[in-house]
Amino acid sequence: MRLWLSNLAIAPAVIRMINPTASSIITTSVAARWNLMLLLAYRRVGQPSPRVVRLQSVTSTQDVARALPIGSIVVADHQTAGRGRLDHKWESPSGTALLVSFVLAPDPILSLTVGVAAAEACGSGVRLKWPNDLLLDGGKIGGVLIEATPIKAVCGIGINLTWAPEGGAKLNQDRDQLLERVRAQLDRWTSASANEVLARWRELSVTLGRRVRVEVSGKAIEGTAEDIGPQGELIVDGRPVTFGSVTHL
Ligand code: BTN
Repeated sequence: MRLWLSNLAIAPAVIRMINPTASSIITTSVAARWNLMLLLAYRRVGQPSPRVVRLQSVTSTQDVARALPIGSIVVADHQTAGRGRLDHKWESPSGTALLVSFVLAPDPILSLTVGVAAAEACGSGVRLKWPNDLLLDGGKIGGVLIEATPIKAVCGIGINLTWAPEGGAKLNQDRDQLLERVRAQLDRWTSASANEVLARWRELSVTLGRRVRVEVSGKAIEGTAEDIGPQGELIVDGRPVTFGSVTHL
């Protein structure tokens, strides 16, 4: 569409019409009106579609996405400084994982929303460990990193496809098809209500009902993971935990 439009000979009068400083210039030319309609249709259709940036090697897709507007998507074959939650590194050989960042509107439960969307995209058998680790048969296949400001949230998703680190697992799915499913599921779950997201997260969870140890700022608490609260916090023996590293005991 973009190429085809760039080959259109748009009449100079039309160009002036869409320039506010020349808004008084009106043309009655049939060809010019047609071109204008096409241009406006292109702008209407073109605006909501996400901008996908595909790169070979980056420090982190998060670094590139941070500068882009809401709706942007950054995918890379390789990251030289990929990062995970709680200052962990996220590393994988080139071309072996889905490494993607979505720029979304901030939301208090976005971390759980993205986890649910990613798990749904991966398919049956994939479960969530609080807050949003993706597990297959108990092994970690992926994770979600949210870096938010008051105006936008950069949501990074990493999923092992053909390689996994020691102790991890891999999904063995086609990367582009998986990306399309993640996009579709994100559309679906970012439009759902918070209650729907929380309900689906509970269904997909392997954390709830288990004894857990949560390490937060050097301290550890142990107890039963009873539920998640309205902001996505994990309730351990009645106490809300908002961040930390969870071990299933
Ligand atoms: C975690 O489990 O700790 C979260 C891992 C998130 C990794 C992804 S890969 C794409 C994006 N870019 C990064 O540097 N991190 C996220």
